[in-house]
Amino acid sequence: MLNRFISLSALIVKGSCGFQGPGLLSKRQSLLKSGAKNKTMSAKPFKVLITHPEVPQSGIDLLNENCELVRVESLPPKRSELLQKIRGVDGILWGGHEALNAEVLDAAGPQLKSISTMSAGIDYVDLDEVKRRKIPLGHTPTVLDNAVADLAVGLLIAAGRRFHEGRKKIETGNWENYHLNWMLGQDVRDSVVGFYGFGGIGQAIAKRLSGFDIDQVLYTTRRRIDRETEKELNAKKVEFNELLTKSDFVVIAAPLTAATQGVFNATAFNKMKNTAVLINIARGKIVNQNDLYDALRSNRIFAAGLDVVDPEPLPPNSKLLTLDNIIILPHIGSATNRTRSDMATIAAHNVLRGLVGERMLSPAY
Ligand code: DGY
Repeated sequence: MLNRFISLSALIVKGSCGFQGPGLLSKRQSLLKSGAKNKTMSAKPFKVLITHPEVPQSGIDLLNENCELVRVESLPPKRSELLQKIRGVDGILWGGHEALNAEVLDAAGPQLKSISTMSAGIDYVDLDEVKRRKIPLGHTPTVLDNAVADLAVGLLIAAGRRFHEGRKKIETGNWENYHLNWMLGQDVRDSVVGFYGFGGIGQAIAKRLSGFDIDQVLYTTRRRIDRETEKELNAKKVEFNELLTKSDFVVIAAPLTAATQGVFNATAFNKMKNTAVLINIARGKIVNQNDLYDALRSNRIFAAGLDVVDPEPLPPNSKLLTLDNIIILPHIGSATNRTRSDMATIAAHNVLRGLVGERMLSPAY
């Protein structure tokens, strides 16, 4: 199950998942052609807005075959330019994490047929508003699982083994290795790793960690995952309380929703082991950052590794940055050339499918 899930993105990108099979392709081509007949002025039947000037070329090339492209050119993208260029488009490839809400949808107009984000998380989308207007929305989960999982493992080791603090010791002339017990950290071997959220990214992290001889995976999700994957990953579904009290490493890999916002607060930190390491590769708002600061400063928990914070960008004077026992990255989980290019490809396929009324590769609802 896990392997099938992880390889889905590769199949999609190679075009061998049936998406580019002759049946579907010819159906789409004929729909695109019939659309063209209805638009006498243009050989390309659909107009699609690309909301960010740096969307990878893989996605642009795909859309360009059959769509007239309108592109936001300002960087960072200006909302005013977007609101002006969005008028009358049939599709949107949403390239950033800006609010996608009623203002945008109103500006586009009622002909809008298809939207895809270029992200897995869609917390910046007013989903109720998109659903109310019955506009198909796609996103790009799965394809980034491996890149984010690699980064999560890096953070887990970096935080547990005090990389940031070690670097600071060197810079400040405090390399005190004459101590026998200097800079001791937490072992990954034989540890219990607890996942808050255990979808594709969480499972990809657990798969990697099995190579580090961990003892057990615990996870908290709404629904139990399939038995085969549980067995493969030595994973057990537990209540949140048990996850907190038993885990040596707690990894947040859940979407940001009203139910997950602020769940990691002082109450949660007080239940964790004082040797525990918290990793967040999901969304910053799932953690109450003031409470995290207190928990780290008082050594209530051992360390944290964050790829996501609230707000982003984190102000350079954030008190979190004064701590030794935290490592913070600027939300770069999916930031590899291949992953971003694949995300653009899938987003473009989503948009194209939505335009002709086909089910998207990765629909968000
Ligand atoms: C996502 O896709 O949600 C990741 O956080 C990268 O943006």
